[in-house]
Formats: sequence, C-alpha cells, structure tokens
Amino acid sequence: MRFVSIVGTRPQFIKLAPVSQALRQWHTEVIIHTGQHYDDHLSHTFFQELALPTPDYSLNIGSASHGVQTGRMLAAIEEVLIKEQPDGVIVFGDTNTTLAGALAASKLHIPVAHVESGLRSYNRAMPEEINRVLTDHISSRLFCPTENARMQAAREGLTQGVEVVGDVMYDVLLQLQPRLSEHARTLLPGLRVEQDQYIITTVHRPVNTDDPDALRRILQAFERCELPVLFPIHPRTRKMIQQYSIHCSDSIHLLDPLGLLDMLTLVQGARRVATDSGGLQKEAFLLATPCVTMREETEWPETLIGDWNVLVGNNSAAILQALHRPDPLSLREHPFGDGKAAQKIALSLCSWPSSAEPALANNPISNSIHVGLPVHPADLSANGQTTHSANGQTINSLNRSMNG
Ligand code: UD1
Repeated sequence: MRFVSIVGTRPQFIKLAPVSQALRQWHTEVIIHTGQHYDDHLSHTFFQELALPTPDYSLNIGSASHGVQTGRMLAAIEEVLIKEQPDGVIVFGDTNTTLAGALAASKLHIPVAHVESGLRSYNRAMPEEINRVLTDHISSRLFCPTENARMQAAREGLTQGVEVVGDVMYDVLLQLQPRLSEHARTLLPGLRVEQDQYIITTVHRPVNTDDPDALRRILQAFERCELPVLFPIHPRTRKMIQQYSIHCSDSIHLLDPLGLLDMLTLVQGARRVATDSGGLQKEAFLLATPCVTMREETEWPETLIGDWNVLVGNNSAAILQALHRPDPLSLREHPFGDGKAAQKIALSLCSWPSSAEPALANNPISNSIHVGLPVHPADLSANGQTTHSANGQTINSLNRSMNG
C-alpha cells in the first residue's frame, strides 16, 4: 500500500519516527511536513535526532490564526494528495495539521488512519479537542493508545476500525531510555543542576501564555519554589514574556527548546515536572518523575493514578503546593502498551479499505447524546472505576487494580 503521512509539529515528528520505520517494512510512504512548526529547535532538530526521512513535501505554512493556518494547510495538502493518489493518509495527534490532513483526505475520499485516536479532555475551549473529535469522526482506522481511549471513542459511536495498539511515544521512549543515565552525566553538570535537585517545566498552552496574569502566576510559583527551575521555552511563550515585560527571577533558567534525548534525560533526573503539555505528563509518568499539570483537565487520566500527576490549573499556591507534595508511594504499572505500537499499526494497515469508510458503527449509540459531550468522570475507566477530578482528589479503583 502507498500511504501519505502528514506531520507539522514537534510532537508529531516524535510520533512519526517509529511509525515511519515500521511502515516502510511493508508499505511505501510519502511524508508531508506542513511547516506548522518551522523553528530549527522545534523541527529540524527532531528530524536529525530521530533519523527521520526528509519530507517529500515541505509546505512551509507557518504561523497564523487557526482559520488561516488550517485553511492554508487544507488547500496545500489537497494539491499533494491529488498528485500522489495514495491508498491512505496517516495523521497524528490533535494539532491543526492533524485536522487539515484528515479533512483534505476525507473530502477526496481517501481513507484516513488516526494515530493517537480516542483521547479527550472534554474541554471544547482547547483547539486540540476540536481537532481530535473531528479527526476521529472522519477517520476509517482509529489507532488508540489505551483502552480508555477506545472506550471514549465507543461512547461517540466510533466502534469500527478501532484498535488499541499502545502509545507510539512509549515506543520512542523505550528506544532512548537506555541512554538517559549516561547522557545525564554530562548534561546535568552543563546546566549546573544535580540529580533530583531541580524542577523542569514547559508552558505553551494559550490558556497559560496568552493571559499575562496566568503567566505571571505560574512564574511566581516557580520563583517561590525551593529548587531551581529549568525552563526550555516555546517560542510562543518567549514572545509573550517579552510582550508583557514579565520578569523572570534568576532561579528560573530559560533555555532554548530541547531535543528529545535532552528532554527525557532532564525529566528522568528531575524532582518534579511542571507542564501543560500532554506528552510530557505521560513521559514523566513513564520515567517515574511526579508531575504537576498546570491545566484543569487531562487527556491522559491514567497518569493521575497514585498521585503521580496532579491537575492544578494556573493558580500560584496550588502549583507550589503540588511541587512540594510528598513522593507517590504506589507502583506504576501502566496501560500505554508494550513498546510495539508502531509495528501493530503498520501490520494493521496491510488490510486497508479501498475507499473512505466511516468508523461510525451502524448502531443506536452512534446517534446518542454522547457524541462529543463530556462524560461523567465516573465513566472514565473500566468497570465503573472512578478516576480523578481537577481539584486533586485521587481515585482509584484503577489504582487499586494496578497496584494490586
Ligand atoms: C501546537 C499545537 C499543540 C501542540 C504544540 C506542540 C495546535 C492548535 N496546537 O501548539 O497542540 O501541543 O504545537 O509544541 O495545532 N511559533 C514559532 N516558531 C515555530 C512555531 C510556532 O515562533 O516554529 C510561535 C508563533 O508565534 C505561533 C505560536 O508559536 O503563532 C504558536 O504556534 P502554533 O503552531 O499555532 O501552536 P503551538 O502553540 O506550537
């Protein structure tokens, strides 16, 4: 089969790496880079580090408002797909690139496979949530990272072509993990920090960066923290700090965005991770570093097990308290797969529809009120187990079942 993989942002380059490698064993792949991320630190570095094939098409779309950015991508991707006539299109995650790729393909009746399907934050104010829901509903093959993601898709009537394959980011993490301790020996002294004696943070969500008060509250918490804070800073956040003339104290070390090996090494060595990213919450969990998530909800509720991750929004006192909370005691078995998600995806794509078939099941649930609406937290995990709420309460039969 002949597939077009469409990527454009940093996390998508990471997800593409194992999928592309596996895909090329059985299929032909053409890569489109939309150019949503264009800075070297966010794009080129990852292609080099992960030894990704050079994209066949670089669309150089760049930054713009959501409508303009997504619209430009749609037009440019359509042109490539008409020329390439692939058997299918593969999109990743939840960015504007994901939605534009899925939409362009489905309008041309080219079937779409969605990698990292079924995730939901149930917060429609996040552009990513809109992108996820819409992409899932126009995809023919939904590759879910977890059982919970599969159940969330099923509640929206998405039951056909759905497979739980595990998390492709876990595939990548497992490949790099053996190198982390050795790398830490040079990286940590170079940044003048010691193992377990620093916090690492990333902040880039509009809810935290585009409101100067929110950004100030977050930085205030870091200033009051007893440990130094390493802050590899997204270009959007750097611009906002400059625009609002926000002062950063000396204990906050602003760094350029990091490559993946550096980032994972610093996550593994940190006392705490503080972030509003989705992927980093999961990487912290998998590397056994307690996480503070500066959001009100997460699309990775599994990370909340045993207090390994807590949701605190952007309130200064809540962030500080969560940074200083005791270490979690529970074990951390996890539901993110066996590190072979990409192989499963590539194999599964050997049987591929000849035209775009909707993933919606022909059953009553597909017309139910659950489509895209918030699900009660008690529904989030299997067997009536409860999960976690935004105010930091733990939860737990998931925890109990995992710990034993
Ligand atoms: C995007 C994704 C987000 C993902 C994140 C990973 C959407 C809606 N958001 O967010 O889900 O978690 O990537 O990093 O698709 N900018 C630069 N250089 C770049 C890229 C961006 O300076 O290479 C600046 C621009 O000012 C731009 C802003 O960052 O306006 C935001 O970029 P954008 O691509 O819209 O979203 P991200 O915040 O990166």
